[in-house]
Amino acid sequence: MNKGRIFSGMQPSGRFHLGNYMGALENWIRLQHEYECFFSIVDLHALTSSYANTSKLQTNIMEMAIDWLSAGLDPEKNVIFVQSHVKEHAELALLLGMSTPLGWLERVPTYKDKIRDLDGSGKDLHTYGFLGYPVLMAADIMLYKATCVPVGEDQSAHLELTREIVRRFNNMYHKEVFPEPQAVFSKAKVLPGIDGRKMSKSYGNTIPFGAPPEEVSAQIRMMTTDPKRIKKTDPGDPNVCIVYQFQKVFNTEEVADIEAKCRAGEIGCVQCKKCLAEKMNSMLAGIHAKRKELEQKPGYIKEVLEYGEQRARVEAEKNMAEIKAAMNVL
Ligand code: TRP
Repeated sequence: MNKGRIFSGMQPSGRFHLGNYMGALENWIRLQHEYECFFSIVDLHALTSSYANTSKLQTNIMEMAIDWLSAGLDPEKNVIFVQSHVKEHAELALLLGMSTPLGWLERVPTYKDKIRDLDGSGKDLHTYGFLGYPVLMAADIMLYKATCVPVGEDQSAHLELTREIVRRFNNMYHKEVFPEPQAVFSKAKVLPGIDGRKMSKSYGNTIPFGAPPEEVSAQIRMMTTDPKRIKKTDPGDPNVCIVYQFQKVFNTEEVADIEAKCRAGEIGCVQCKKCLAEKMNSMLAGIHAKRKELEQKPGYIKEVLEYGEQRARVEAEKNMAEIKAAMNVL
């Protein structure tokens, strides 16, 4: 617990899936033993793109908390809380926004791409809030003086911007208030969706996190395999098979053997899928059971989030006082 302090967050934007788990949460579970961690359900970030439809926001926050806890994030070891519950996030974002050049925000590579992607989806992202997304993210990290941020490829430009904001602040106000946060890169395992495209709720190709075994097995049965393989004895090409990609992630002991048998036409797709389903279901059984249990205890989930909020607030208030003093906002 002394490698430094981590801040990270996830947007509560609908049901969590196995791709999210392998991409980020699995790393957090490991990092919680090595760092002091603040993990936040970033509801304000969710508003930057979903401001027009907030009807599911509270449900999504609860669902995300349940996902995190059932995956094994420890609410004693880590500070787990909802971003908007600690008002200093909004206050610091506003203060940092005063000095963040527009050009820095406009040239974040994901900015224009995302607006374009969502064009025609009914979401209008030509807003002040969406442009300021990286400033809010910088505020999250800086409010706790985090030294490390676990990032995937998609967030590294945002972290770089945070570092620029930190340097500018420390220079402008002649005080080393903030450390420059470092990226903690971890080998994110990329899982495709069951149809081979990126796993995404909008494609309907996900395996929901905490899904019961029947659902996991059913999704595996739907996975596309080598289309040239008609009979079980035809040699298969694992490189074009979605099941193989999952075997590589979830069945590391047997994958080499399965690959060889597939190429030799000695194992059929049905059997290969069955074997994957068994592996995945035994790995996910504990998570599924924990999730079921926590779903029945909304009072407990609320307590966990309140406890985290209190602990986050102590740190946030202390740092905010120092930040404002440096800026002569008294
Ligand atoms: N932008 C991140 C995402 O969408 C979520 C996030 C918000 C975050 N604040 C953060 C991640 C601070 C790391 C640190 O994935």
